[in-house]
Amino acid sequence: MQGIQEEATLKDQPSVYTLGYSDAEARRLHIQGILWNKFSRHLFEDAGITQGMTVLDLGCGTGEVSFLLAGMVGPRGRVVGIDRNAKNLCLAAQGAREFGHNQIEFRQADLNELALAERFDAIAGRAISIYIPDLSEFLTAIHDHLKPGGMVALQEPDLALTEGLAKVGECLPLACKYFNWMRRCFEQNGNHVRIGADLVKAFSETRFSSPRMQISAVASMGQDSFQFEHLAGLARSASPLLAQFGIATAEELDVDTLASRLRAEVAARNSYVFLYALVEIWAKAT
Ligand SMILES: C[S@@+](CC[C@H](N)C(=O)[O-])C[C@H]1O[C@@H](n2cnc3c(N)ncnc32)[C@H](O)[C@@H]1O
Repeated sequence: MQGIQEEATLKDQPSVYTLGYSDAEARRLHIQGILWNKFSRHLFEDAGITQGMTVLDLGCGTGEVSFLLAGMVGPRGRVVGIDRNAKNLCLAAQGAREFGHNQIEFRQADLNELALAERFDAIAGRAISIYIPDLSEFLTAIHDHLKPGGMVALQEPDLALTEGLAKVGECLPLACKYFNWMRRCFEQNGNHVRIGADLVKAFSETRFSSPRMQISAVASMGQDSFQFEHLAGLARSASPLLAQFGIATAEELDVDTLASRLRAEVAARNSYVFLYALVEIWAKAT
């Protein structure tokens, strides 16, 4: 495995990334991987990612998707994970060493200025497009980094859709308030909160053949505490911006008890709550 490249050439991270880079956020990314990897695997299989391929993982974070992809492409394949944050890349490189994934290489790069020398069989990204201001430019850059007939597969939490799902059922007061806070926080920070609709539009402006789309969401009925920890963890990471935007104070959020309060609310009403709904979209380069 190569080390992390280009580190010295990049400036410090902008402070506007919605979830920040705390140790707790790195742990949350790991929990998120446990919750989402089964959906990611299905998506990547549907997109045709298989043994021996070279795959680019966009916004690899601490490496959860890169590790999954490494298993799918096998020892004859190769995965390149890119992210702009050095701390996440170090954790990813450490994980790859521990798992013995010698076919992964991590590089530091900004996805808004994607310019790699290499072309890939497939390009994957999870929870990354929501942070990219110009999706048409992003998809064009992705297209330019694919071999002819190569595949892109993106999997993104749609915060507006998730808020809508919470309202469709019983609209549990705390759960509905929580999903509303989170959607507004990402929206005010300039992220795409209707990423499904925004990606469909962006795909229509680029050279990919008819994209396919589906949605995955896991529901919790109050028993499984780590699912509620995941929801609370997201609020913990976003808490500085939630306060800065005047959306929720630390007292309202009470992040240390948020998971248990959400779980208790769901259990007390024999109800359920959907965790973040993932929009999954994949297409072939023409
Ligand atoms: C929510 S994490 C997702 C990590 C990983 N894809 C996963 O699913 O576990 C988003 C990652 O995208 C990275 N990121 C956000 N904007 C970026 C950009 N413009 N260029 C490169 N990385 C970016 C962040 O540094 C962070 O590590």
